[in-house]
This record gives sequence, structure tokens and C-alpha cells, in this order.
Amino acid sequence: MDFIKVTEQKEPFVALVELNRPKELNALNRQLMLELLETMQTLDKNDNVRAIVLTGNDQAFAAGADIKQMADQSAIDMLMVDQFSTWDQIRKTKKPIIAAVSGFALGGGCELTMMCDIIIASETAKFGQPEIKIGTIPGAGGTQRLTKAVGKSKAMELILTGRFLSAEDALFYGLVSKVVPVEMYLHEALQLGKEIAQQSPVAVQLAKEAVNRSFETQLDEGLAFERKNFYLTFASADQKEGMKAFIEKRKPTYSGK
Ligand code: HXC
Repeated sequence: MDFIKVTEQKEPFVALVELNRPKELNALNRQLMLELLETMQTLDKNDNVRAIVLTGNDQAFAAGADIKQMADQSAIDMLMVDQFSTWDQIRKTKKPIIAAVSGFALGGGCELTMMCDIIIASETAKFGQPEIKIGTIPGAGGTQRLTKAVGKSKAMELILTGRFLSAEDALFYGLVSKVVPVEMYLHEALQLGKEIAQQSPVAVQLAKEAVNRSFETQLDEGLAFERKNFYLTFASADQKEGMKAFIEKRKPTYSGK
């Protein structure tokens, strides 16, 4: 792996994945995205991982897709390369992914944070879809996910001007769940990962699936999906353990079965 670093964490069951192309502000070239996909698929199969933290560095989460790689491509080149199939597969990761964001999260970088399940931001984080400034538009979900996250008016403003959204505003509009000082964002995300990793992995997976379903369906269908996943938790040893532990006034131990 040239552009992705996976670090063993002291925290049990939490994997830290770092985008590691710092000189280019973690611009997302195709190799990086393929490595990220391979990493996510490997972690998804690893029973010792129950939550994933995805981060860049203090200066940049990622400044977008690699403009130098795209600049001279034709529409047909782009179609045939079909880079978005990589993105689509990353989206299928079953384990929860927390984006720990500092500095620039722009274009594809912003879209990648929005493909994660929770975003923790440092005070220096800057989100944006500046594609309009280079004569194109978001292509990895920005027009859809940003609009759902911050509402139509703000999304239009950002996407039509390329302006950045500060961490403070990102919190105000509900794009991120927490903003902390730059020294703390990674720690905060790892702590959150640790807390999620203490829950039943079966229930976490089913809950993630059900929340995501709310973006894809009408209410009736979403409620039916949730209900089936709720029933399904009763097939797990973890549900039995969780409820038994509550009644016996002790902490549950989850096996992931
Ligand atoms: C390729 C990039 C890059 C990018 C930065 N770099 N962003 N290279 N693709 N998206 C490179 C610069 O060329 C430079 O390398 C080095 O990183 C440092 O960047 P600077 O511009 O010198 O830094 P600074 O002046 O601090 O400005 C930071 C910045 C600016 C505001 C983030 O770099 C910027 O505007 N970047 C592009 C942001 C953008 O438009 N993103 C959307 C991309 S399109 P050299 O070697 O030249 O010094 C997109 C479509 C998504 O994401 C579709 C789905 C895949």
C-alpha cells in the first residue's frame, strides 16, 4: 500500500485508516481509492475490528479527486475507467466508519466524509464542493448527500459558488456531529469508535443498514426494513446477552454472534 496506512490501535476492535499522500493534500487518485477499497474489504472481514476511523492529517483530510489525473481525460475515458464503481463498493462497507476530519475536505474529499457514518471535525476543518471553480460538478454524491445533510439552500450556495463551509457552520447545519480542537479530533473519533466497538457488532451492523435505508426509501419501506432488522437482532446471541446482562445488572460481553 503506497497511499493508505492502517495502524494497530491500543483500543480494542478499532482500526485507524490514514490517507497518506500528504504532499498532494491527500488528493484521491485512482490508486489511493483502490487501496482504500481493499483496506475496507479486509477490515470488514476481520473479526478483531468493530469500528473504523478514517482520517487524513491535520492539514487535509483530502483536497478532492486528483485534478492532474483527470484534467486531460475525455468523457469516454472517464466512463471506461469507471472510478465510481470503487466508490460504490467502499459504500458497501458493513462496519461503521467514523471520519476524523481536519483541514481541507473538498470535492471528492468532502464526498468521502459524507460516505462515512459519522463525521468528527477539528476546528480547522473546511468542507466544500469547489468543482464548479474548475468547470465541473460533484460526481461522487455531493449534490445528493450534501443537500440531504445541510438542506437545499445551503447546498446550492456551496455547490454553485465553491465556497467552503467552516467546521462551526458544518456543525450548525448538521453535516458533522462534533467539532473539537485540532489536537483532539483524532482522539475524539477513536473514543467514539471504542464506544461503538463495545456494542453488539450484529446490532451495530443492522442499525447502520437501517439508518442508511432512510436515505434511500420512503417512510413505509424504511420502517418495514427497520422492523425486519429489529426482529433479526433477536436471532443473535448478543441480543440475549445484552438483555440478560441488563436484568442481572452487569456489563454485557458481546461475541458478535
Ligand atoms: C491534485 C492537488 C489537489 C487535487 C491540491 N493538490 N489539491 N493535486 N488534485 N485535488 C496539490 C497541489 O497541486 C500542490 O501540489 C499541493 O497539492 C499543495 O496544494 P496548494 O494548492 O499549493 O496548497 P494551498 O495553496 O494551501 O491550497 C489548498 C487548496 C488547493 C485550497 C486545497 O490546493 C485547492 O484548491 N485544491 C483543489 C481543490 C478542488 O478543486 N477539489 C475538487 C477536485 S474535483 P504542487 O506539486 O502543484 O505544488 C473532485 C471531483 C470529485 O474532487 C469527483 C469524484 C471522484
